Amino acid sequence: MADLKKAMVTGASEGMGRVFAQRMAARGYQVTLVARSEGKLQQLLVELGDGGHRYMVADLSTEAGMGAVADDIRSSQYELLINNAGISISGGFTDLTLEQQLAMVRLNCDSLTTLAYAFLQGAKAGDALLNVASIMGFFPYATQTVYGASKAYVISLTEGLWYEQKARGVFVMSVCPGPTATAFFDRAGIDGGPPKGITQTPEQVVEVALKALDKRGAPTHISGWFNKFLASLPRILTRKAAVQALAPKG
Ligand SMILES: NC(=O)c1ccc[n+]([C@@H]2O[C@H](COP(=O)([O-])OP(=O)(O)OC[C@H]3O[C@@H](n4cnc5c(N)ncnc54)[C@H](OP(=O)(O)O)[C@@H]3O)[C@@H](O)[C@H]2O)c1
Repeated sequence: MADLKKAMVTGASEGMGRVFAQRMAARGYQVTLVARSEGKLQQLLVELGDGGHRYMVADLSTEAGMGAVADDIRSSQYELLINNAGISISGGFTDLTLEQQLAMVRLNCDSLTTLAYAFLQGAKAGDALLNVASIMGFFPYATQTVYGASKAYVISLTEGLWYEQKARGVFVMSVCPGPTATAFFDRAGIDGGPPKGITQTPEQVVEVALKALDKRGAPTHISGWFNKFLASLPRILTRKAAVQALAPKG
């Protein structure tokens, strides 16, 4: 197993993370899966079969969870880190608890930054960091306000790191999905689930991300033409008009 390339995928128990893990294992990577649901990680490990794959159970919204995974990154020398774990919570800012929203920021921003730091400190030329952001990082979105802000952070961080790391030959990119058919909507408490007609599958998003990863070009990749259109609205409209046009009605 010594010659295999190693990848870590966070949020690998479900949704896009699960597909990322399957694809990287199929490409011959030795994959470390990270999430909280041990049963689902065990199941995926069996599905992935031989190849030296492993899992870590960690709650990345806690200091202990991010610390343990960061330590593993420092000692394991991964060639690829896919920072995918993330959640949203739907509701008015003051209708939700502060703690719920801060826990989301710890997962979506603090843990992503902590793991990126551990990875990039030890990265070598040819290594890559892929952060999963969202089209909601391009515009303010009422009722998922903190979520949108957390993803704007991911996009901005990724673009800065892309430039900083270029000289070392380390590639940093984000993929920005729009609505994607995963458990995300249920978990976030979004009424009605993903919008009909414009929702992608996790496989479609992962394909866009991995093509971009292979190409090692631009830092930011939006999945799907309709999502590209949505992400461009604040540049076509004013930001004030965009937040009003995009806000869920009723
Ligand atoms: N689905 C969409 O419409 C959409 C759109 C744009 C961007 N995204 C982004 O895409 C990424 C993946 O989302 P998804 O749609 O695949 O969602 P998902 O199906 O709900 O999967 C989320 C993954 O994150 C893990 N996770 C959640 N909380 C965690 C925690 N505290 N510590 C460690 N792992 C945690 C979950 O595993 P456990 O519960 O087992 O911990 C699960 O594996 C997220 O960053 C999300 O923001 C999603």
